[in-house]
Order: sequence, then C-alpha cells, then structure tokens
Amino acid sequence: MKAPQARVVLTGASGGIGHASAAALLKAGATVMLVGRSAPRLAEQARQLVRETGVDASRVEHRLADLSRPEDLASLAVMAAGWGGNVLVHNAGLASFGHLQDLRPADVQAVLHTNLIAPMLLTQSLLPHLLAQARAQVICVGSALGAIGLPGYSVYSASKFGLRGFAQALRRELCETAVQVQYLGPRSTRTAFNSEAVEAYNRATGSAMDRPEQVALELLALMESEAAERFVGYPEKLAVRLNGLAPSWLDGSFKKHSRSLPPAAPALLAHS
Ligand SMILES: NC(=O)c1ccc[n+]([C@@H]2O[C@H](COP(=O)([O-])OP(=O)(O)OC[C@H]3O[C@@H](n4cnc5c(N)ncnc54)[C@H](OP(=O)(O)O)[C@@H]3O)[C@@H](O)[C@H]2O)c1
Repeated sequence: MKAPQARVVLTGASGGIGHASAAALLKAGATVMLVGRSAPRLAEQARQLVRETGVDASRVEHRLADLSRPEDLASLAVMAAGWGGNVLVHNAGLASFGHLQDLRPADVQAVLHTNLIAPMLLTQSLLPHLLAQARAQVICVGSALGAIGLPGYSVYSASKFGLRGFAQALRRELCETAVQVQYLGPRSTRTAFNSEAVEAYNRATGSAMDRPEQVALELLALMESEAAERFVGYPEKLAVRLNGLAPSWLDGSFKKHSRSLPPAAPALLAHS
C-alpha cells in the first residue's frame, strides 16, 4: 500500500535498519509504531524522528516489547490491533556468525526464537485483526542469507531460510484475503549488527555492505509494491536466483568464504 495509508508496526525499531526505516516511512507519509525493549531509548528515538523528519508527533508511537517473552508478543498484538496497525514489519533480529562448533546452544536457540518463532507467533496473534482490514501487509525482513547459505552463517541462514519459507507459504495461504505477505532480503549492511569479525570476512571475500538508509528505501519500495520478495544488490540478486535453481552449482564458489572465517576454537579443532 502507499505510505500515507500505512500504519506500520515496526519491530527492531531502535536498530540500524529499524531507525532508518522509520525515518523513510515517516518521510513518505506513513504513521509508525516503534517497537523496542527500552522505554527511554524509544521515547528519545521518537523525539529524534520528529525532529529529523519534521512530521507531527502524533505520527510516531512507541511500545515496549521483548520478543523473547510470549506474554509481550500477546500484549503487543493487542496494542497493535487497538492502534489500528495495518502493516506489520518483522525487523528485529539477532546475528550469529562463526563455526557451528563454536556457537553456544543457548545462542542458537535465541537466534531461532527471535528471527523465526517470534515473527510467526506475532503474525498469528495479529492475523484476525489484519484480516479484518480493507488491506494489510506483513513484511518479513530476512536476508540474502535466507536464500543463499554461506560458511559461518549456518544458524543465521537457517533462521532466515525459515522466515522466507514462512512468508512464502503464508502468502499462498492468504492469497484470497486482503493480507499480503512479503519478504525483504538485504545483503550485509553497516549497522551494529555486524561484528568486527564479520567486517573482516566481508573485506576478505569482497562482499559489499550497504548503508541502512539504502535498505530503508528498499523496504519502503517493497511495501508500496505488490512484489512478493525483494533482494538488495548485485551480485546477490543473481546469486539468489542461481542458488534457487541449482544450489550445488554454487558449492565450489564459497571456498574463499570458508577460508576467510576466523579460526575455530583450538580445543574444538582438536576433536575435528
Ligand atoms: N545488518 C545487516 O548486515 C543485515 C543484513 C541483512 C538482514 N539484516 C536483518 O535486518 C534486521 C535489522 O538488522 P539491523 O542491522 O538493524 O540490526 P541491529 O542494529 O542490531 O538491530 C536489531 C534490532 O532487533 C532488536 N531485537 C533483538 N532482539 C530482540 C528482542 N528479543 N525483542 C525485541 N527486539 C529485539 C534490537 O533491539 P535492542 O536495540 O533492544 O537490542 C534492535 O532494535 C534483522 O532482522 C537482521 O537480521 C541485517
């Protein structure tokens, strides 16, 4: 839908892509509910967005929710429905990078919960409200890594492949309703999400990094379009297509990525 008709519930609003997206949506005419985990930060961010974009303060709401807490997901759905949200953007996410054997089991679970289970449960809770709207959208902020698995990203890719599968199946399930489900696949983006180790890996493999403001414009373009998916940047768009057709063709292309990973923990290497 066009931005002026959109009342956007935006998770992960305080992050790099979240803040840039809120600004782009507001400038385009949308009304935005910032969702985050820190009340003082959200209040300050709302004031900053009003200053930055010059919009009326009534167009920027904020609500607290920790998406790892089932009770927060349920209360966020009630608040979003009461507020009249008609676009739900699942943007909150956790990073995971490194050799699988070095990842802590609790972190693996947190990544899958934040990136996949929370968006599914929140969509489920808000769906009755969305289905009652003249038009509504659910936008999943995934990743290029939700369509191409790269060394170092086994768990992160699993979460984003899962999110993409969720978006695709739900889009088809809801095809005769007024709810449209979309998936955005940014490539690496310069935010606090990426550690120094990721930046070094990107330099070593020649992987480009976008500014969050570019990703925000892609999100806005996706929301205003009928497209099912939108991937960001070349050669990633091409690689997504090729990988979808014949993933094994690309297996040999990522040896450099594998060699560019930080070394695995020595104690674990001894067992490998
Ligand atoms: N940066 C990249 O390279 C890149 C590339 C492709 C896709 N993406 C995707 O883009 C999205 C935004 O990433 P970003 O780069 O903006 O990352 P970011 O700056 O680290 O922001 C992540 C946001 O998620 C929120 N969040 C994490 N766990 C949460 C929880 N349990 N409850 C509520 N909020 C939670 C964070 O809240 P707090 O501020 O409270 O921690 C933060 O606002 C993510 O889904 C990410 O997977 C990022």
